[in-house]
Amino acid sequence: MLKLEDIWMQVESENGENREILRGINLEFNTGKLYGITGPNGGGKTSLAKVIMGIYKHTKGRIFLNGEDISHLSITERAQRGIGYGFQQPPRFKGLTIGDMLAIAAPDADPKRRRLQLRAVGLCPEDYLDRDLGPGLSGGEMKRIEMAQLLLRDCKVSIFDEPEAGVDLWTIQKLIALIEGGYKHNPDKVAIIISHNENILPICDEIIVLEDGMVTDRGTANQVWHLIRDDIECKVRTRCQGDLEYEIDQY
Ligand SMILES: Nc1ncnc2c1ncn2[C@@H]1O[C@H](COP(=O)(O)OP(=O)(O)OP(=O)(O)O)[C@@H](O)[C@H]1O
Ligand SMILES: [Mg+2]
Repeated sequence: MLKLEDIWMQVESENGENREILRGINLEFNTGKLYGITGPNGGGKTSLAKVIMGIYKHTKGRIFLNGEDISHLSITERAQRGIGYGFQQPPRFKGLTIGDMLAIAAPDADPKRRRLQLRAVGLCPEDYLDRDLGPGLSGGEMKRIEMAQLLLRDCKVSIFDEPEAGVDLWTIQKLIALIEGGYKHNPDKVAIIISHNENILPICDEIIVLEDGMVTDRGTANQVWHLIRDDIECKVRTRCQGDLEYEIDQY
């Protein structure tokens, strides 16, 4: 369904130099499967999601959705074709209520379904529909609203960027059940879950490890999980350890 062919992306750093954030990503995502993307902080997971959504422009490579090259389509056009992204840090919109936001996200959804979806992520519609999407909402509440929006939209490709971040342990189980229920074995849909969570990654059919802008491992949870834990911990420690020891010496 979704195919990424040799995707590269670069950003201009503060000193004016170009830095490659994504380096030759080749991936294919097929319907009926849950995919997990994990890897160290700064590895490029969110950037890859934003490239798929069209928020970031890739510098090289092509993106296909059901055989159509969507590389040059705008965010809106990609959304119209059924791609949805739930932000790692959902934006706040002061002056807009949660009800307004759900109506904008899924204008065709029955209002009863909007209420139901909100309840499903653990937020009582009676308390939340009229609340402002401004700074008064907690981080966990914002994540749950973002999740409700994405689930309501019934996208062909849904990308959840750390759906568990800031969400309490009781709600994480609820969110996992919602993702599994909506996407696992669904012949029309693909879910891509960016996560570091030990409860979420095992529900995925395939886990992809992204590190330094490259895919460094992939496989089932059983194949990859121990490898990920030991390998990443090891690399992160090695990369930072020398600098840390130097800083401590200087201190
Ligand atoms: N717009 C941007 N401008 C400059 N650098 C960026 C930009 N977006 C991302 N980066 C850099 O690209 C790298 C990858 O960032 P990204 O957010 O994709 O990582 P991540 O894997 O999602 O990390 P995390 O697990 O912390 O969410 C980081 O070093 C980040 O600082
Ligand atoms: Mg991220």
